[in-house]
Amino acid sequence: MNLTSYFYRVPLCVPYWNGATYRGILRSFLSGSVIDGPDLSELRSLVIETLGVEEAVLCGSGSLALEIALRACDVRQGDEVVIPTFCCTAVVSPILAVGALPVLADVGEDLSITAETVEAVLTDKTKAIIVPHLFGNPADIKAIMELARGRTIRVIDDAAQALGATIDGRPIGRLGDAGILSFGSEKVCFGLGGGIVVSRNRDFLNGSSKIDLAPAELSPAVRNFLSTMIWRRWRRWTLPVQAALSRVKTTTPDSPPIPYRKEIMANLNAAVALSLMQTLPENIAARRARVQAYQDLLGTEERLEFIPHRTGSAYLTQVIRLLPKHRGNDLAAHLIQVLGSAGYEVQGSYVPIHLLSHYETRAHGCLPRAERVWADLIELPCEPEVSFDHVERIASIVKQVLNS
Ligand SMILES: Cc1ncc(COP(=O)(O)O)c(C=O)c1O
Repeated sequence: MNLTSYFYRVPLCVPYWNGATYRGILRSFLSGSVIDGPDLSELRSLVIETLGVEEAVLCGSGSLALEIALRACDVRQGDEVVIPTFCCTAVVSPILAVGALPVLADVGEDLSITAETVEAVLTDKTKAIIVPHLFGNPADIKAIMELARGRTIRVIDDAAQALGATIDGRPIGRLGDAGILSFGSEKVCFGLGGGIVVSRNRDFLNGSSKIDLAPAELSPAVRNFLSTMIWRRWRRWTLPVQAALSRVKTTTPDSPPIPYRKEIMANLNAAVALSLMQTLPENIAARRARVQAYQDLLGTEERLEFIPHRTGSAYLTQVIRLLPKHRGNDLAAHLIQVLGSAGYEVQGSYVPIHLLSHYETRAHGCLPRAERVWADLIELPCEPEVSFDHVERIASIVKQVLNS
C-alpha cells in the first residue's frame, strides 16, 4: 500500500511556528490572558516600530483591517474601489461592507495591478484603490500612488500576503494612506488569524467613520486555536482523518464570501503573531532560498515561466506558469494531480474574480491578461519547513510532466 496517498510529504501551507510561539500560547492560557493581555500592546509597538508608522489598530482579521482602512479613507455607499481581478476574494467583502462597489482591474506581467491597468478603470466615482502585494511580491504601488495623487483617490497598501517585504528598503504596508497586515491562514506569518491596520498619520484611523470593535470571545478564540493546531499545524497527520470525516475544506473559488467577525484581536492571537514577527527575517530568508532553488532547477525549462519576484519580496510562494504544447491541454491541473499522488499538496492560483458568481463586482469589459494566464498557474511551496530534498523532488516531477 502506498502510504503517501494517506500522508502528504508536504501538505499545503503548514504554519511556520517556533518555540516562542508555543511558549506564547502556553503563557496566554496559564495566565488567563486568552482575550486580553500584554501581547496586544507588545505586538502593536513592534508593528509601529518595524513599519515606521504612527498608528496601528489590532483587529480580528485582515478583512476587518481592510474595512477599517476603507472607512478611514471615507469610502461610502455608491463609491467605487479598485482591486485586481486576480486576487483573493477576501478583499471583496470589506468593500461591500461599507456599501461601495468593487471595480476589477486587470494585472500586469507580475500578476499585480499596475498604474496602467488601474487607470483603465478609474471613473469619477473612484474613491480608493486597494493594492495587494500578492505572493509576497511588491506591486508597483508608487506608480499607483502617483496616479492617485491630485485625483483625491486614496490608496490602501494591502500587505496581507507580504509582511516583511520592502520597496526601496522601506517596509510594505506603510506606503499608502493606510495599510493592512494579516496573520491569517496561508500568509507569511500564518498564525491564529488577526489583522492590523496601520497609518503614518496618527489621526487618520480615528476619524468619525471609525467602527467600535467588540472584544474577542473566549470560546471562538479557543476553538479557532484548536482547529488551526489540529487541521493546519498538524495537517500532515490529520488531513486523512479530516478526509475520512468528510471535513476537508470544501470551499471552492466560487463559494460565497465567508463573513468576518468585527472584533478586537485576541491576546492569544497576538502572542502567536508576535513570535512570528520576531522570526520574520529567517522565515523570509528560508523562503527566498527555496525560490532560488526552484529557479536553479527549473529556470531553463522551455515551457515554463517563473513569475519573477522583485527585490524586497517576502517570497510567500513561487508561482509558475505552464505553457501547454497544445491549447486546451490542462497541464496545470494534471501537474497538481501528479504532485498530489507523489505526496505534495500544491494548488493552482486564483480564478479571476470577474469570472466568479456570488461576487457583486464590476468589470469594464474583459480583462485579458488575467483571463489568459490564470488556468496555467501553480503555486510551488516555499515554506521554511519544506526541505531542499523535497524542492528537488518537486522540481523533477515538474520536469517530467512538462516533458511527457
Ligand atoms: C491580499 C489579501 N488581502 C486581505 C486578505 C484578508 O485577510 P484575512 O484572511 O486575515 O481576513 C487576504 C486573505 O487572504 C488577502 O490575500
